[in-house]
Amino acid sequence: MPPRRVLILGATSAIAQAVARRYAQGGARLALVARNRQYLDVVAADLRIRGASALWTEVADFLELERHAALVDRAQQALGGLDIALVAHGVLPLQAEALADSRIAGLCWQTNFVSAASLLEAVGQRMEEAGRGTLGVLSSVAGDRGRAENYVYGASKAALNAYAGGLGQRLAKKGVRVVTVKPGPVATPMTAGRMRRPGLLSDVDEVARRIHRGLEAGWPVVYAPAYWRLVMTILKLLPTRIFERLRG
Ligand SMILES: NC(=O)c1ccc[n+]([C@@H]2O[C@H](COP(=O)([O-])OP(=O)(O)OC[C@H]3O[C@@H](n4cnc5c(N)ncnc54)[C@H](OP(=O)(O)O)[C@@H]3O)[C@@H](O)[C@H]2O)c1
Repeated sequence: MPPRRVLILGATSAIAQAVARRYAQGGARLALVARNRQYLDVVAADLRIRGASALWTEVADFLELERHAALVDRAQQALGGLDIALVAHGVLPLQAEALADSRIAGLCWQTNFVSAASLLEAVGQRMEEAGRGTLGVLSSVAGDRGRAENYVYGASKAALNAYAGGLGQRLAKKGVRVVTVKPGPVATPMTAGRMRRPGLLSDVDEVARRIHRGLEAGWPVVYAPAYWRLVMTILKLLPTRIFERLRG
């Protein structure tokens, strides 16, 4: 089988790196995009050592929506086509700060929803033209039901779920799969020092194994780890009055 051609948008994310390592070990050709050049170069060097058969990198701040289409074109050209793409970037603001300053909430929604949806569309349209490909996006269990503790962030992921679901339905008829990934809390820089019970954080490599499997199988929704599917099914079914009594 020829090496996989994989585009990672937000390649310095800890979860994205762990997924990219799995593809590198399989000899994939990788296109990596992130906004920090120095860190991106370190990530690329590591993936080369791990077995990536080709590496292309570009620096971009995804809030610059007008750059998305050309960026994806260049990545597609560099790899000679796209088999897999993963939209991985995101931010998790402190809820109290986001409630006190709507600019912080707005930046979260712009980053996690607006820029991610724009990238999904840019990649999706190119895969649609090619009539093939799998397009994944890192959403979150936080998007399944708004909770007092993190509904600013959760709302951005809920919107992303709706977008990815609709895009997936549209592209299913065109030979393209859209995979919405919903991790529970994972031990990465995003959650460092932020969890009341750090023992509940999942290991990033375990989560990446599940994501890699979901991308390869083209599952529409991937909970990572898998038990979050059951947890969220129950949480979503709880009547509001009972849900409101749970700790945020
Ligand atoms: N960790 C968790 O518990 C968890 C759970 C569920 C879902 N997720 C989701 O998984 C994804 C990855 O999270 P992670 O845990 O791997 O966090 P992470 O290591 O903190 O990575 C977040 C990445 O997003 C990048 N980013 C943020 N804004 C950007 C922008 N405007 N343009 C380009 N890149 C931008 C950051 O770049 P810089 O390094 O330059 O800031 C960083 O590489 C996120 O979408 C997150 O919401 C995480």
